[in-house]
Amino acid sequence: MRTTPAVPVPDVPDAYPPPVETGGAAARRYHARHGSVLPAIDQAAGSTAPKHHPGTPVIPLPFPPAFPSSPGDEEPAAAMEGLGSLLSLLYGVTRVDWTGAGVAAGRPVPSGGGSYPGEVYTATAFGLCHYLPSAHALELLSPADLRADIVRALDRPPLDPPDSILLITSRLDANLARYGPFGHRLQALDAGVLTGQALSLLESAGAAPVAHALFSDEELGRLLGLNSTAERVHAAVTTRVPAAITPSAPLLRRRTARSGFEPVPVPLPALLSVLEEAAGPIPMDHAAPVDCALYVVAHRVTGLEPGCHRRDGRTGDLVPVTGDATPRGLFPPNGPGELAGFEAACAVLVTGDYESGYPGHGDRWYRRLNLRAGVIGQRIGLAAADAGLGAGLRCDVDTPAADAVLGTHPHRTTLLAVLLGQERGSGTPAFPLLGASGPP
Ligand SMILES: Cc1cc2nc3c(=O)[nH]c(=O)nc-3n(C[C@H](O)[C@H](O)[C@H](O)COP(=O)(O)O)c2cc1C
Repeated sequence: MRTTPAVPVPDVPDAYPPPVETGGAAARRYHARHGSVLPAIDQAAGSTAPKHHPGTPVIPLPFPPAFPSSPGDEEPAAAMEGLGSLLSLLYGVTRVDWTGAGVAAGRPVPSGGGSYPGEVYTATAFGLCHYLPSAHALELLSPADLRADIVRALDRPPLDPPDSILLITSRLDANLARYGPFGHRLQALDAGVLTGQALSLLESAGAAPVAHALFSDEELGRLLGLNSTAERVHAAVTTRVPAAITPSAPLLRRRTARSGFEPVPVPLPALLSVLEEAAGPIPMDHAAPVDCALYVVAHRVTGLEPGCHRRDGRTGDLVPVTGDATPRGLFPPNGPGELAGFEAACAVLVTGDYESGYPGHGDRWYRRLNLRAGVIGQRIGLAAADAGLGAGLRCDVDTPAADAVLGTHPHRTTLLAVLLGQERGSGTPAFPLLGASGPP
């Protein structure tokens, strides 16, 4: 009988992303060794500096950004203002935070350990640019219009040529000093968070964005001039011209409940509204073979029994799964997660199935699934701010303990946890740098 030879897995224990495609074997091995194992976090280790390209022309963007009042205004200056408002709300500095460590620049999106491994590039008619968040400026990498070349590198290009493409990358070494190889999984989640924010902003502006995760890595990296051992593209968001994006107050309010939660109940309707926002369809170039089901481990939710519940994707109902689960029990004992879990009203678990995607996607499924979880995590953070709840994304869950409360789904695993509750006191002091429109 002929047997198919096993795909050779490169014998480089920590090689991630794997240097050759192994049909999921390398990703499986990475996950078992690093991705599902609680990282030993070195809090003292710094993150690598964000990227910049010395010697390239720098185009300053207006700050505070102008939020154009006429959607569709295609004057070059207005288009630039539209791009500036989009980028500041995507990844810029939007507030000043006072933390135990001093004064920090607050960003619209969270990032594991505040490492911000992501970089954002834009391809428009006037060229390819890299965004500098701290300066709120663009580095003009090339005046050439690369949109058609980028679209050709996508497996499922959009029907209409996009006006603009956002490219979301991650620096491979950005958070490894602090998290070790677990940092690679965090990078995929962080890229998802950024992608989720881009989709939310662009959808709110009626720009019909689509997030692409199926593309030739090599070709997109080449077009961006990336060193593939240092930085990889995780997502490309094709969109119509970013029109007026006027930030709502909740959008600007999003932040991690750093000072913890008051141990008080939250009302069930607030939780249900968060889950509904999180579970909406994601405009992506591929569907997940198995959905990223949402589970709630409730502790203090008025109108909901404590324990683990699965959100029914069809009805939105919360179906009881495991009675004795607590948010606190999802975290290793004696760690900061245990205390936060004890105080929180509930934990939302974003789950997924790695095994369902390896046959179709190979090793890349690993980061694609984490990208999707990051999109959902960001939606939960935004929806929580909208519902007046404090929120905190957490990757420091004890994965086997969390998976044990999900019931008997083979291969379903916890990708990300989000604690929800009433933020303690008036929260960590922060000063907003941008004004909001509409209701508070
Ligand atoms: C994927 C991801 C995982 C995170 N995991 C943790 C965690 O395990 N523990 C924690 O305290 N904060 C965690 N955070 C929150 C970050 O520490 C926080 O976003 C960052 O410090 C920036 O602060 P901000 O969210 O208030 O803007 C996580 C954030 C992301 C995006």
